[in-house]
Amino acid sequence: MIVGIGIDMVKVNKMQDAIEKGGKDFIDKIFNPEELEKIYPSKIYYQRLSARFAAKEAVIKALSKEVELTLKDICILNKCNGAPFCKLKKDTDLNIFLSITHIEDYAVACAVAEKIT
Ligand SMILES: CC(C)(COP(=O)(O)OP(=O)(O)OC[C@H]1O[C@@H](n2cnc3c(N)ncnc32)[C@H](O)[C@@H]1OP(=O)(O)O)[C@@H](O)C(=O)NCCC(=O)NCCS
Repeated sequence: MIVGIGIDMVKVNKMQDAIEKGGKDFIDKIFNPEELEKIYPSKIYYQRLSARFAAKEAVIKALSKEVELTLKDICILNKCNGAPFCKLKKDTDLNIFLSITHIEDYAVACAVAEKIT
Protein backbone atom coordinates (compact mmCIF):
# COMPACT_ATOMS: atom_id res chain seq x y z
CA MET A 1 0.00 0.00 0.00
CA ILE A 2 1.30 3.47 -0.93
CA VAL A 3 1.54 5.57 2.25
CA GLY A 4 3.25 8.73 1.06
CA ILE A 5 4.85 10.76 -1.70
CA GLY A 6 7.46 13.49 -1.49
CA ILE A 7 9.27 15.81 -3.88
CA ASP A 8 12.06 18.32 -3.41
CA MET A 9 14.16 20.68 -5.51
CA VAL A 10 17.56 22.13 -4.62
CA LYS A 11 19.44 25.01 -6.25
CA VAL A 12 22.91 23.68 -6.99
CA ASN A 13 24.77 26.97 -6.41
CA LYS A 14 23.15 27.38 -2.97
CA MET A 15 24.34 23.92 -1.99
CA GLN A 16 27.80 24.68 -3.37
CA ASP A 17 27.98 27.95 -1.34
CA ALA A 18 26.86 26.14 1.84
CA ILE A 19 29.49 23.44 1.36
CA GLU A 20 32.25 25.91 0.59
CA LYS A 21 31.35 27.88 3.75
CA GLY A 22 30.60 24.94 6.04
CA GLY A 23 33.27 22.55 4.79
CA LYS A 24 33.59 18.99 6.03
CA ASP A 25 31.49 19.65 9.16
CA PHE A 26 28.54 20.70 7.01
CA ILE A 27 28.91 17.67 4.73
CA ASP A 28 29.23 15.29 7.68
CA LYS A 29 26.01 16.63 9.23
CA ILE A 30 24.05 15.66 6.14
CA PHE A 31 25.74 12.77 4.34
CA ASN A 32 26.93 9.30 5.32
CA PRO A 33 30.43 8.26 4.14
CA GLU A 34 29.05 5.54 1.86
CA GLU A 35 26.94 8.13 0.03
CA LEU A 36 30.01 10.20 -0.78
CA GLU A 37 32.36 7.38 -1.80
CA LYS A 38 31.17 7.00 -5.39
CA ILE A 39 30.39 10.61 -6.27
CA TYR A 40 33.69 12.29 -5.46
CA PRO A 41 35.66 13.20 -7.48
CA SER A 42 33.19 14.10 -10.20
CA LYS A 43 32.77 17.07 -12.53
CA ILE A 44 29.17 17.23 -11.38
CA TYR A 45 29.96 16.72 -7.68
CA TYR A 46 27.75 19.62 -6.48
CA GLN A 47 24.88 18.56 -8.73
CA ARG A 48 25.05 15.06 -7.34
CA LEU A 49 25.28 16.24 -3.73
CA SER A 50 22.32 18.56 -4.34
CA ALA A 51 20.37 15.65 -5.81
CA ARG A 52 21.12 13.51 -2.78
CA PHE A 53 20.03 16.31 -0.46
CA ALA A 54 16.80 16.70 -2.47
CA ALA A 55 16.29 12.93 -2.28
CA LYS A 56 16.63 12.94 1.52
CA GLU A 57 14.07 15.77 1.81
CA ALA A 58 11.72 13.93 -0.58
CA VAL A 59 12.02 10.76 1.52
CA ILE A 60 11.30 12.72 4.73
CA LYS A 61 8.15 14.13 3.09
CA ALA A 62 7.06 10.72 1.81
CA LEU A 63 7.50 9.13 5.25
CA SER A 64 6.34 12.05 7.40
CA LYS A 65 3.19 10.20 8.54
CA GLU A 66 5.04 6.96 9.25
CA VAL A 67 8.37 7.63 10.91
CA GLU A 68 10.51 10.52 12.06
CA LEU A 69 13.87 10.61 10.28
CA THR A 70 16.99 12.74 10.30
CA LEU A 71 18.91 13.45 7.11
CA LYS A 72 21.59 10.94 8.13
CA ASP A 73 19.03 8.18 8.78
CA ILE A 74 18.54 8.24 5.01
CA CYS A 75 21.24 6.87 2.76
CA ILE A 76 21.03 7.53 -0.98
CA LEU A 77 23.01 5.02 -3.05
CA ASN A 78 23.10 3.74 -6.64
CA LYS A 79 22.51 0.26 -8.05
CA CYS A 80 24.96 -1.19 -10.60
CA ASN A 81 22.84 0.20 -13.46
CA GLY A 82 22.98 3.72 -11.98
CA ALA A 83 19.44 3.76 -10.60
CA PRO A 84 19.21 5.39 -7.17
CA PHE A 85 17.85 3.66 -4.10
CA CYS A 86 17.30 4.59 -0.50
CA LYS A 87 18.56 2.63 2.48
CA LEU A 88 17.12 3.64 5.85
CA LYS A 89 19.25 3.40 8.98
CA LYS A 90 16.09 2.64 10.99
CA ASP A 91 14.16 -0.62 10.95
CA THR A 92 10.82 -0.08 9.22
CA ASP A 93 8.21 -1.99 7.25
CA LEU A 94 8.54 0.55 4.43
CA ASN A 95 9.84 0.32 0.91
CA ILE A 96 10.90 3.51 -0.87
CA PHE A 97 10.89 4.19 -4.61
CA LEU A 98 13.14 7.04 -5.62
CA SER A 99 13.90 9.03 -8.76
CA ILE A 100 16.53 11.73 -9.16
CA THR A 101 17.40 14.25 -11.88
CA HIS A 102 19.95 17.08 -11.99
CA ILE A 103 21.13 19.76 -14.37
CA GLU A 104 23.64 22.58 -13.91
CA ASP A 105 21.31 24.78 -11.84
CA TYR A 106 18.82 22.46 -10.15
CA ALA A 107 18.48 19.00 -8.68
CA VAL A 108 15.10 17.35 -8.15
CA ALA A 109 14.07 14.13 -6.45
CA CYS A 110 10.80 12.31 -5.96
CA ALA A 111 10.09 9.54 -3.47
CA VAL A 112 7.16 7.18 -3.01
CA ALA A 113 6.74 5.17 0.19
CA GLU A 114 5.07 1.79 0.29
CA LYS A 115 4.12 -0.14 3.40
CA ILE A 116 5.12 -3.78 3.11
CA THR A 117 2.16 -5.87 4.25
C1 LIG B 1 19.14 6.43 -17.13
C2 LIG B 1 18.80 7.69 -17.92
C3 LIG B 1 17.27 7.75 -18.11
C4 LIG B 1 19.27 8.92 -17.12
O1 LIG B 1 18.79 10.08 -17.74
P1 LIG B 1 19.65 11.44 -17.83
O2 LIG B 1 18.79 12.49 -18.42
O3 LIG B 1 20.95 11.11 -18.47
O4 LIG B 1 20.03 11.77 -16.35
P2 LIG B 1 19.35 12.77 -15.25
O5 LIG B 1 20.29 13.89 -15.02
O6 LIG B 1 17.94 13.12 -15.54
O7 LIG B 1 19.36 11.84 -13.98
C5 LIG B 1 20.54 11.35 -13.48
C6 LIG B 1 20.11 10.40 -12.42
O8 LIG B 1 19.34 9.35 -12.99
C7 LIG B 1 19.45 8.24 -12.11
N1 LIG B 1 19.66 7.03 -12.91
C8 LIG B 1 20.78 6.65 -13.55
N2 LIG B 1 20.57 5.46 -14.15
C9 LIG B 1 19.30 5.10 -13.88
C10 LIG B 1 18.52 3.97 -14.21
N3 LIG B 1 18.99 2.96 -14.93
N4 LIG B 1 17.24 3.92 -13.75
C11 LIG B 1 16.74 4.91 -13.00
N5 LIG B 1 17.45 6.02 -12.64
C12 LIG B 1 18.70 6.10 -13.10
C13 LIG B 1 20.61 8.49 -11.17
O9 LIG B 1 20.11 8.76 -9.88
C14 LIG B 1 21.27 9.72 -11.78
O10 LIG B 1 21.86 10.60 -10.84
P3 LIG B 1 23.12 10.17 -9.98
O11 LIG B 1 24.05 9.46 -10.91
O12 LIG B 1 23.66 11.44 -9.46
O13 LIG B 1 22.57 9.26 -8.91
C15 LIG B 1 19.48 7.72 -19.29
O14 LIG B 1 20.88 7.68 -19.13
C16 LIG B 1 19.05 6.60 -20.21
O15 LIG B 1 19.51 5.47 -20.13
N6 LIG B 1 18.13 6.93 -21.10
C17 LIG B 1 17.58 5.93 -22.05
C18 LIG B 1 17.50 6.51 -23.43
C19 LIG B 1 18.83 6.48 -24.09
O16 LIG B 1 19.50 5.46 -24.15
N7 LIG B 1 19.19 7.65 -24.62
C20 LIG B 1 20.46 7.83 -25.27
C21 LIG B 1 20.37 7.67 -26.75
S1 LIG B 1 19.25 8.77 -27.49
